[in-house]
Amino acid sequence: MKDKTNDLPFPSVIQGGMGVAVSNWSLARAVSMLGMLGTVSGVALERILVIILQNGDPGGHFRRALAHFPYQQAVERIMKEFYVEGGVSKRSPLRPCPMFTLQPSRILIDLTVCADFAAIWLAKEKHNGLVSINFLEKLQMPHPYALFGAMLAGVDVLTVGAGIPLPFPQMLEDIVAERPVRYKVDVVPDHSSQGPNYREIVFDPKEHFGEYPKGLIAPKFIPIISSLVLAKALLERLPASSIYGFVVEEDTAGGHNAPPRKVGGQIQFNHLGEPIYGPKDHVDYPKLAELCRKNGARFWIGGSMASPECLAFAKSVGAEGIQAGSIFALANESGLEVNIKRTVRRLGYLGQLKIFNSMWSPTGFPFKVVSLHGTVSDRGVYESRERICNQGALVTLYEKANGSIGYRCSAEPETDYVAKGGKLEDTVSMRCLCNGLLATAGLNHDGNKPEQPIVTLGNMMEGASFLKHLMRDENGQSSEFGSYSVADVRRYLLGS
Ligand SMILES: Cc1cc2nc3c(=O)[nH]c(=O)nc-3n(C[C@H](O)[C@H](O)[C@H](O)COP(=O)(O)O)c2cc1C
Repeated sequence: MKDKTNDLPFPSVIQGGMGVAVSNWSLARAVSMLGMLGTVSGVALERILVIILQNGDPGGHFRRALAHFPYQQAVERIMKEFYVEGGVSKRSPLRPCPMFTLQPSRILIDLTVCADFAAIWLAKEKHNGLVSINFLEKLQMPHPYALFGAMLAGVDVLTVGAGIPLPFPQMLEDIVAERPVRYKVDVVPDHSSQGPNYREIVFDPKEHFGEYPKGLIAPKFIPIISSLVLAKALLERLPASSIYGFVVEEDTAGGHNAPPRKVGGQIQFNHLGEPIYGPKDHVDYPKLAELCRKNGARFWIGGSMASPECLAFAKSVGAEGIQAGSIFALANESGLEVNIKRTVRRLGYLGQLKIFNSMWSPTGFPFKVVSLHGTVSDRGVYESRERICNQGALVTLYEKANGSIGYRCSAEPETDYVAKGGKLEDTVSMRCLCNGLLATAGLNHDGNKPEQPIVTLGNMMEGASFLKHLMRDENGQSSEFGSYSVADVRRYLLGS
């Protein structure tokens, strides 16, 4: 299968995919123009597009990108439904983005393909650097549509974390071969069922858009892993050369992390309720380097690696380089809401940040949370929020007794969750990450009841040593905006 980027030297620094909307197109573009790998977060892009269009698409960026989308009838449909010239008033609630199901509506397919296309198109506009898209495997239902949209815009690299991304190479091959794209979505079976624990989504672009585009090229595929066992399993089970390399994510990384190994069949927790990782959770880099060498693959290390010293260490153990998240999340170009960014940079500079490894994510994965006043990390803020599930990106699918499929999320109202067969204990402490993370990117416009943010960053923020190299004082290099840019990050990590 022909794939992309064969002739380009691959960067030693990967900017991690950071959802929701932290790794937006402008961050990815800035990173990529400076010779590193810029990544657009592919999480919930359809929801983000719905909000941006109703805010009048400031700067006209998405309209500029969508003018290049090959199927203009789809663009017309979404513009008619969601675009508001000048933006809706701050007081008016927004028209919601439909939620995903196994049979998404036509408009939701349009939105997802267009949103992924537009974000990658913008990140790649007017330069030749490499651009990646990042998906979380666990957020399964949008994958066929989102991947197709990103490939239409010529995405160079695909990174996938939070799960076992076995189906992706087949999807890439199907899109290149102009075949329908299939994805098996996990389903919790009914007790009495003998049926499969999945349902298949099939997306046929020809049926949806009237024709299949010719000549699409597969991006390089880089699974994000946290164990040698998973690296081996993926290399064994996937066709040779379908994996370009791995990002190995250490448990100090921001966002979701892989859970630690169980001891006596159980995850162990410390007195704060954080999962405990032990020596066996760390990847043996020389062994991984050997495995990669034998299979023509390579790897990057992520998690508290954002320094020139760590980059040198990564290379010394056989890695190509590093993946970094937090350092880019706090750069001017990222999608993190500016007041949150400013506060976190200042607290980080002063050494006053606390990061908690929570079990608050409905995905079931540990999730890093910055303890920050006024955000959902605050018990009072969390408890005063009325539970509501109106985004649905993290739902689990379950089979009902009659064989039909239901959708539930452990952060939805407890009674709803239990009525859908979920366990009450699973709802305890669960945070609505869909709304919390949208709010963290300033995308919480919702009439009179804006959602509150939840901020995730890696453990390195507690020491935040990189901020000392990037900021002149706690307000940053320019007192107006407390700023440092992606160019400053590049200079720090790679020299001028
Ligand atoms: C704000 C934020 C959001 C993140 N979201 C995602 C995500 O959606 N998908 C993913 O694979 N990794 C995600 N990560 C992990 C990063 O891609 C990266 O691997 C990690 O941050 C590296 O660790 P560092 O923050 O110590 O540099 C996120 C990290 C941060 C800081």
